[in-house]
Amino acid sequence: MNVKNNFAKILWEQLKDDLDVQEIEGLIEKPKHTDFGDLAFPCFSLAAKRKMAPQKIAEQISKNINSSLFEKIEVVGPYVNVFLNKSQVFTTIISEILSKKESYGSNNIGKGEVVTIDMSSPNIAKPFSMGHLRSTVIGNAIALIHAKCGFKPIKINHLGDWGTQFGKLIAAYKHWGVEEKVKQKTIQELLALYVKFHEEAENNKQLEVEGREWFKQLEDGHEEATSLWSWFREESLKEFNRIYEMLNIQFDSTAGEAFYNDKMESVVELLENKELLTESDSAKVVLLEDEQLPPCLIKKSDGATLYATRDLAAALYRQQTYQFAKSLYVVGNEQTLHFKQLKAVLQKLEYDWASNLHHIGFGMMLKDGKKMSTRKGEVVFLEDVLRESISLAQDNIEKKNPTLENKSQVAHMVGVGAIVFHDLKNYRMNDIDFSLEDITRFEGETGPYVQYTNARACSILRKANRETIQTPTLFTLRHDSEWELVMLLLEFPTVIQHALQKYDPSLVAKFIVDLAQAFNKYYGEVKILSDDEQKEERIALVAATSTVLTEGLRLLGMKAPIQM
Ligand code: ARG
Repeated sequence: MNVKNNFAKILWEQLKDDLDVQEIEGLIEKPKHTDFGDLAFPCFSLAAKRKMAPQKIAEQISKNINSSLFEKIEVVGPYVNVFLNKSQVFTTIISEILSKKESYGSNNIGKGEVVTIDMSSPNIAKPFSMGHLRSTVIGNAIALIHAKCGFKPIKINHLGDWGTQFGKLIAAYKHWGVEEKVKQKTIQELLALYVKFHEEAENNKQLEVEGREWFKQLEDGHEEATSLWSWFREESLKEFNRIYEMLNIQFDSTAGEAFYNDKMESVVELLENKELLTESDSAKVVLLEDEQLPPCLIKKSDGATLYATRDLAAALYRQQTYQFAKSLYVVGNEQTLHFKQLKAVLQKLEYDWASNLHHIGFGMMLKDGKKMSTRKGEVVFLEDVLRESISLAQDNIEKKNPTLENKSQVAHMVGVGAIVFHDLKNYRMNDIDFSLEDITRFEGETGPYVQYTNARACSILRKANRETIQTPTLFTLRHDSEWELVMLLLEFPTVIQHALQKYDPSLVAKFIVDLAQAFNKYYGEVKILSDDEQKEERIALVAATSTVLTEGLRLLGMKAPIQM
């Protein structure tokens, strides 16, 4: 049930000629204070059409409303204020949640349409950065939210496994590399080689030349270059897979940049046939002057293709393979220009589906207000952060609940959950300051706080010891805190739809924090299991709350332990 929408439909009966249901719903407000009712409809916008004072209109409307949903209707100035029949709303919503269980809040907006989600996409031979963590968890939550709304998400890890940097890395390995070291500490060692390359190259220009030559060898498929490259790739993937396993994130495809090597020529041909390619400094570019964008570089003077060329090939491949309705790219804001160019070039190629490409940007993870740079080796290893957080969660359990079963599984769920939630709770476009202390905090508006609240609800339900939860035929409200809880539970389906439309998991994160706070307030004020007439009602409310908290956590890619 969506009370706002119900109210809008009731009003529409009288306002058919002026507004549609959606417009009415958009106008409905929540009064500043509950003394003025639960919902309010302002009549200003009707005044001009009806040539009547808004106050008069409000009076007319209120007289003609006749619905058991409301227990009182009042006119205050130009507003029609309604007081919901709380018992009825309460009863309807709790029985809906208890019967639908985890599918409460689901909808079929997507009608089975495919959405490809380009996400995570770290660069081989470099540490899995906090930026890639952001793409991974934001992408995963967006995929889960799309699935909840009836879409078929396809998660694609567009691995950065091609480009001139691999020429540099091979050159560095040939100079200073030690096989054993790479095997033991792959990424740290490859990173060290990459950093050294850049340091040495400051005084030795020859190195850059060597790097370019090795990349040429790689592009031409020479054996030594290719086998070193595959080895770096394989070893790096082992490390990335450990992280994905910890985060419990899987992909439908890991076709990275190299996958498109044999699909580049046809892209260049397409552009040539449409006469879109222009020579510029002996490189080939697509001019995007009309779009007020800088030219998109397609082929360098030495024939090497580029990041953008590979993304063009990937977009075409995805459209052919998946026939997507939407194609999302969850990639940091620093690549906004790149995705504008990509879309503009596809539009120049006259693909109507180009308008369905969306760059889902996000802010940077900063350290002391500055960007973390891989080249300078200022890097935080995500795996270390995850382990640190899990071990803090473990210490916490040891202190608070030493007899808990599956301690290490729970510590994993909480430690990882803290990191995931920390990333998702802020609007994605904002920059976040990296602080290990903040990330691994378990109190306040954090993931573990929500998880803990849900575990508390589960423990009440265990104590109540009910095989099945009865839904009482009519709830009687005793406490304001119960009503606050119900109003939030009602909002969940709307929150999911907003999160879908805005590609914004933080709406779900904020919602479950609010719900957890409302539940804890209720828990503090009311003796849930005391033996009186309302006991079954309270148990049903706790069960419904736990269902929604668990589902909210799941949509963010988090687990909800039943005991903590
Ligand atoms: N590997 C790139 C990076 O780390 C991100 C790739 C994003 N996806 C894409 N299709 N371009 O910057």
